[in-house]
Amino acid sequence: MKSEEEKVAIVGIGHSKFGKRMDVSINELGWEAIRPALQDAGITQKDVDFYSVGNFGYWSEEILPAVTIGEYAGLSCGSLKTEAACASGSASLKIAMDSILSGNGKIAMAIGIEKMYNSPNGTIIELIGRAGNYFWEFENFGMTFPGYYALYASRYLHDYNYREEDLCESAVKAHHYGALNPYAQFQKETTIEECMKSKYVSRPLKLMDSSPITDGAAAVILARGDVARKLTDTPIYIDGQGYATGTAYIGRRDGYTGLEASRRASEMALKKAGLEGIGNNFDLFEVHDCFTIAEVMAYEDVGLARRGEGIKLLKEHQTYRDGKFPVNLDGGLKSKGHPIGATGISQAVEITKQLRGEAEKGRQAEIRKGRALQHNVGGTGHYAYVTIYSRGD
Ligand code: COA
Repeated sequence: MKSEEEKVAIVGIGHSKFGKRMDVSINELGWEAIRPALQDAGITQKDVDFYSVGNFGYWSEEILPAVTIGEYAGLSCGSLKTEAACASGSASLKIAMDSILSGNGKIAMAIGIEKMYNSPNGTIIELIGRAGNYFWEFENFGMTFPGYYALYASRYLHDYNYREEDLCESAVKAHHYGALNPYAQFQKETTIEECMKSKYVSRPLKLMDSSPITDGAAAVILARGDVARKLTDTPIYIDGQGYATGTAYIGRRDGYTGLEASRRASEMALKKAGLEGIGNNFDLFEVHDCFTIAEVMAYEDVGLARRGEGIKLLKEHQTYRDGKFPVNLDGGLKSKGHPIGATGISQAVEITKQLRGEAEKGRQAEIRKGRALQHNVGGTGHYAYVTIYSRGD
């Protein structure tokens, strides 16, 4: 049993509107998330002992966003930028949490931010593609991320005998919940027919199978358990975080219908949280659905479904709010948007809102166990972070 001094909890959250944000600079975008987080925690900048900024950033205006965002927001304590591709936000959470667990401070802020529209789409897609494996895959074959996930999708549909329509089930669910989320980039329902009619991006994946290019920021304030209890009546504890690194070279992976790094990260997180498995232990899940196939693979990697059976959960609506395993009730990366470095923190904000019972009407999960799981992947399985949260009651 951990003492309160050995625990870390979220005590404040903030989230910017996601979308094409040409109306703000990267520093102003950061403030849109930092300001409500400080207010929510009832603290000021001088109470923060350390902050970290998850950011990929190669496309945007500032090279050292941790410094410029901190300067704009009035934060002058120690800081750093974390990079773990699309899991940069979870890496930011880890560093902020470790800064407390190491005894170096009592309050830390984990920020995630990305301003992708600072560059043209072609440049963004090229830069993400280079993050796969430059030497073997980008220089020789011009791989892009839609291309990588199309390989996974082709293998999955072939091995388990599903159709493209079945993958569209993930997009329909995402847009259903995104339509209810005021922070989402796309707030519009879609259908299987619309998804099937959208343009091919990389066969068999279409526009509606893909997460978009997004600008956005999110922030959480973490406090040591005893401090958290003084700041709020609803601390959301981080019970355990698992992490793993996969290969960059996709030829060295152990298969193409799942991500080994996700499986290892999930096992580590469950173990750290003292849980035997998924069972009936969770009220909701946030998973990394950068493409529809990624959501299906996540179900299977985390342990919601057996191999080849993830799509069945979607088709049976078991991952809708009233199903057995509610997943991505904020619209996920597909509809809420995927500002690379912000996604991991955005997921943490969503889980905190849900566990506090503060999500918008129509998308609030029923909270019985008081526990949720977050799955965040960087690259094509290069990095994986799985984090388990609870109300601690
Ligand atoms: N879902 C639904 N609609 C989308 C969309 C998406 N993912 N992406 C863009 N759109 C819409 C836009 O709003 C726009 O609509 P409008 O014409 O009514 O304004 C239209 O489609 C064209 O948008 P545009 O941004 O020009 O599309 P694009 O063809 O340049 O880019 C993708 C589309 C899917 C190729 C691009 O968003 C992409 O590469 N996404 C994946 C990003 C990625 O790899 N992230 C990391 C994953 S781990």
